[in-house]
Amino acid sequence: MIDPLFRYSSDLSRLSEQHQIRRLYPVAGVDFTSNDFLAFTCAPQIRDAVISALNDDLPIGSGGSRLLRGNHAVHEALENLAAEFFGCEKTLYFASGYVANFAVLTTLPKRHDLIIFDALSHASIREGLFASPVKCTKARHNDVNEIEGILKKWRTRADASATAWIVVESLYSMDGDRAPLEELFAAADRYGAMLVVDEAHATGVFGKRARGLTESYAGRPNLIAIHTCGKALGASGGLVCAAGAIIDFMINRSRPFIYSTAPPPMNAVAVTAALNLLAMEPMKQQDLHRRIRTAHEELKNHFSMQGSGSQIIPFVIGDAEPTLLIADRMQKAGYDLRAIRPPTVAPGTSRLRISITLHVTDEEISKMMHSLKTTLQELGITPRGS
Ligand SMILES: Cc1ncc(COP(=O)(O)O)c(C=O)c1O
Repeated sequence: MIDPLFRYSSDLSRLSEQHQIRRLYPVAGVDFTSNDFLAFTCAPQIRDAVISALNDDLPIGSGGSRLLRGNHAVHEALENLAAEFFGCEKTLYFASGYVANFAVLTTLPKRHDLIIFDALSHASIREGLFASPVKCTKARHNDVNEIEGILKKWRTRADASATAWIVVESLYSMDGDRAPLEELFAAADRYGAMLVVDEAHATGVFGKRARGLTESYAGRPNLIAIHTCGKALGASGGLVCAAGAIIDFMINRSRPFIYSTAPPPMNAVAVTAALNLLAMEPMKQQDLHRRIRTAHEELKNHFSMQGSGSQIIPFVIGDAEPTLLIADRMQKAGYDLRAIRPPTVAPGTSRLRISITLHVTDEEISKMMHSLKTTLQELGITPRGS
């Protein structure tokens, strides 16, 4: 009899040979990995808000789709607060940023439209694009000239009612670099295109008031910003922030919104408390930026590297095997640093993704960088860009 599990075990063996196998590890070591940039996952104000809501009989589960009995007052309160906070007409709360991206890209673009997406876009964006009926074109990373060229060519042939969509991240998740938003908006305005900006790693960290890198563009009718709630906000979910007509359309037409149980009400309470905390404590953002500066100074001192300028610092090694070796040594030294390998990043660009959060002190950052340098010297490895 044919072993029905053989195709899985043989795939796993191949992954192992290619140093691509993944395993789950318990949380350990000093945090240089999480996206809990402001340490909000442990913020007493957020915990107290959830406990107090539960003590006031907030149900654990929502009990149904938002369009049926799953629509709780706390969901709507969050969406109203988020619209004010992010400066848009309306918002819609999804259970995760992944689903929010997927929902936007599978619901809004229509058949004769065109979607242009950045080559380094996150998997959740790509998943939405694969599932959408619309023609999708990949543009080189942060290359606005290429995007403009594609738009220009397409406009001469496209139906007058068709819309072009540009999809980017404001701060890239594996490289920590920023999208050229000013130029992207100029191109979008010139060609009547919509701009979808995934703010996952910028929310709560960048923007004068921590509203993300689209903060100064908020309220534009051609902007759809997705703010994930599981990173700097320390909770979970994804908020689609857009013009009222877009959100109303999604409520009526977005299958991931309609045919899924609404997020637990307590998650909405946690995100609401996180937004309030962010507004009340701008010092947290400043503290984080001080630590980011420390990390960049240490990077320069030890490795003559420039860094990304953000809380996400790619430390590119190249091949997967030595990257895993360094990560393993660093973990044994007490630092939670992880190897990021293909297919998450391009082949030959395996890296440690150093994440700076308020869980670490300036001193811990300096010690970690020193330990990283010693480890590389012992292994005889030189990182890229050093
Ligand atoms: C750029 C980006 N967008 C979206 C997501 C998905 O967000 P969530 O974790 O809330 O599903 C992630 C998650 O890592 C991400 O990095």
